[in-house]
Amino acid sequence: MSIIKQCLFPVAGYGTRFLPATKAIPKEMLPILTKPLIQYAVEEAMSAGICSMVMVTSKHKKAIENHFKPHPEIEASIQNTTKESLLDEVNQAIEYCDFSYTEQQQMLGLGHAIYTGQALIGNAPFAVILPDDLCTSESDSVLLQMTKLYQQHPDCCIVAIEAVLESEVDKYGVIDGELLPNSSNAYRVHNMVEKPTAVEAPSNLAIIGRYILTSEIFTVLKDTPADKNGEIQITDALMTLAKQGKVIAYQFQGKRFDCGSINGFVKATHVFAKKLL
Ligand code: UTP
Repeated sequence: MSIIKQCLFPVAGYGTRFLPATKAIPKEMLPILTKPLIQYAVEEAMSAGICSMVMVTSKHKKAIENHFKPHPEIEASIQNTTKESLLDEVNQAIEYCDFSYTEQQQMLGLGHAIYTGQALIGNAPFAVILPDDLCTSESDSVLLQMTKLYQQHPDCCIVAIEAVLESEVDKYGVIDGELLPNSSNAYRVHNMVEKPTAVEAPSNLAIIGRYILTSEIFTVLKDTPADKNGEIQITDALMTLAKQGKVIAYQFQGKRFDCGSINGFVKATHVFAKKLL
């Protein structure tokens, strides 16, 4: 049984980079081949032993809720045909997991979206997956790798990091840290900078869309001011905890596709399609 029991999915954003596709269809419902991004994300949480899925969503995104409800008419129509197994994975998620939803009323940033989930999460540590970062790995999923590390550091938040090109650091939160004793992939974080220029960046280690957060984050988020764009950044809240030595950055094993960008989405589609051929 996992020590982390809940996963929060911030899915309220407008997905403007994918307009017009995302005018009526949530970005998280865009598929890589036949599976929507949100389903890959839920399956990754399940692979880490998590059964409680908390979606911070918006009133425009009912398709996500519908995806995780049974659809008896379609099931009847594919029964005893070659397509019968196509709903097996999503039906497994529906059977084994609880799904709860809360609406983010205003798009005030990722930190605000996570704060909105507090009423459903309560006081326990929890995972966060941004579904537009699609992660694959040969063995343990990225979130499972992170929950294993968290078990050794239960007072800390864990953020997943990846080495990116210098020319790309301005798209990410970037960390400054030192390797933990006897580790080659886990850093104690001293500093984090949101979207730095290549010159300002303390390293090329960028935070990607996987987190394990202690409930302390809610207390910090409550007092975290909005940035110059009016958004509450999770990086700013984590910085407060990093100053207390409570943030670990983990360089995961596996691959990440930034499916929130057209480039990454096409790359993921290509790689997944190649596996089928
Ligand atoms: P992004 O900035 O990548 O998503 O936020 P977006 O705003 O939907 O996409 P673009 O930039 O307009 O194309 C990262 C994640 O945080 C969520 C988004 O849904 C996405 O999963 N998010 C962001 C919220 O839930 N609420 C917010 O206020 C902001």
